[in-house]
Amino acid sequence: MRLLLKGGRVIDPSQNIDDILDILIVNGKISLIDNKIDISEVKTRGSIDSVDIGGRILVPGLIDMHTHLREPGFEYKETIESGTKAAVAGGFTAIACMANTSPVNDNRSVTEFILTQAARTGRARVYPIAALTRNQEGKILTEFADLKDAGATGFSDDGMPVTDSGIMRCALEYAYSLDMPVISHCEDLGLARGGMMNEGLVCAELGLTASPDIAEEIMVLRDIILARYTHTRVHIAHVSTAGSVEAIRAAKASGIAVTAETAPHYFTLSEEALRSFSTNLKVYPPLRSERDLEAIKEGLADGTIDAIASDHAPHSSIEKEVEFDYAATGLIGLETSLSLSLRLVEEGILSMSGLIKKMSTNPADILGVSGGSLRHGLPADITVIDPEVTWTVDAARFHSKSRNCPYQGMQLRGRSVMTMVGGEIKYRSGL
Ligand code: DOR
Ligand code: ZN
Repeated sequence: MRLLLKGGRVIDPSQNIDDILDILIVNGKISLIDNKIDISEVKTRGSIDSVDIGGRILVPGLIDMHTHLREPGFEYKETIESGTKAAVAGGFTAIACMANTSPVNDNRSVTEFILTQAARTGRARVYPIAALTRNQEGKILTEFADLKDAGATGFSDDGMPVTDSGIMRCALEYAYSLDMPVISHCEDLGLARGGMMNEGLVCAELGLTASPDIAEEIMVLRDIILARYTHTRVHIAHVSTAGSVEAIRAAKASGIAVTAETAPHYFTLSEEALRSFSTNLKVYPPLRSERDLEAIKEGLADGTIDAIASDHAPHSSIEKEVEFDYAATGLIGLETSLSLSLRLVEEGILSMSGLIKKMSTNPADILGVSGGSLRHGLPADITVIDPEVTWTVDAARFHSKSRNCPYQGMQLRGRSVMTMVGGEIKYRSGL
C-alpha cells in the first residue's frame, strides 16, 4: 500500500517544517518527505495512488485531548461511532474521551469496552481517560496501574472536581509514578453553588444564578501547590479565566510542571452572548467576561496555555430545549473546533505552526501518545486543512448525534478537507 501526497504546505512544529513538500506513505507509515518525489521513480517499485494536495495545509493529525463520547450509557447523546465520525470530519485523527459515562470508566472492563468499540468503528484513534476516583465520587482512587494496563491514557474525574486535596495529592503521586497525566476539572463546588453563568454585571442583569471566576481559580492554585509539593505534574482542563491564566503563567515561570488547555468557546464567546438565553451557551466552566476572553488569548499567545481542546459535550434536545435552569451543561465542538481556532491565526495571535502545536504536538506530549509529528516511520496520521474555504454552520448536518451547537448559522472560514489515520483516508470532502 503506497500513497503519495503531492504539493501540500507541510507544517510540522515537531520538526520545524513549513514548506511545500510531497509525502510518501508506505504501509500506513510516513516513509519520505521531500521537495519533489518523482512518481515515475517510485512507480517502478509497484503501483501507487496519489492525491494532489494543491497547496493546502498538511499537518500532523489533530488530537482533541478532551471530548465526551457518552458511550456506554448515554448512547442517545453520542456513541463512539458517531463521535469518531464527527472527529474525523472535524480534522481529528485522535481524541481522548472523558470518564463520565454510565457506568463510569473507573475499571478495566469499561476501558476495554471503549477501545473495542473504537477499533470496531475504525475511524479516529480513541484514548480513554479513566476516572480518578471510583464512580467519580471523589473518595477512593481507582486502580491506576490496572487501568493503564487496560489501555487508559490518563486520569480525570472531569465533569466533577476532586474536592479532597489529600485524594488529589495521592492521585498526582501515583499517576506520576506510572508516567500518566492527571487532568483536573477545577471547580470549588462551594463557591460555584451550581451557578448557571459567570458572576458579574451581566448575570445580575439577567437574573441567573452565578458561579464566580474564583471558583475555578482557587482550585487551579490548589493543584499548582500540590504539583509543586509532590514534584509531579498536573494538567488543568478547560481554563476560562484571567486569574487562572495568571496563576499558570507564574507557576510555569517558577518551574512547576503544570500544563493547561482551553476550549474554543472561551476565546470566541463571552457572557454577553447569554443575553439570548440560549441553552446551548450553558456550559461549565461558564462563558466569562470580555476581559477573561482577552486573557485566554494572551495565554495562548505566550505559551501559558499549551493546548486547545473542544470539550465536546453532546446533549440531546430533550435536555437542552427546556428552561435555562433545567438545561444540561455543555456544547458540542468536534466539528467547529478547528475553524474557530483558525481565527487565532487570522487575528495574528498564533502562527499556523503555533496553532498546530496546540492542537496536535502538545496534546500528544501531554497525553504521552504517539502522533503530533510527521517524522519518518510514524503512522501516517494526517490532517489537510483548506484555510480559505468559507462555510455556514448547520448543526443538523453534523455527524455528531447531538445538536447543542451555539454557532448555528455562523459563517466560518477554513476547515479540514482530508483526515487520514494510519495511512487510511477516513474523511475527505472538497479535495
Ligand atoms: O459543560 C460541561 N459539560 N462541563 C463539564 O465539565 C462536563 C460536561 C459534560 O459532560 O456534559
Ligand atoms: Zn469535559
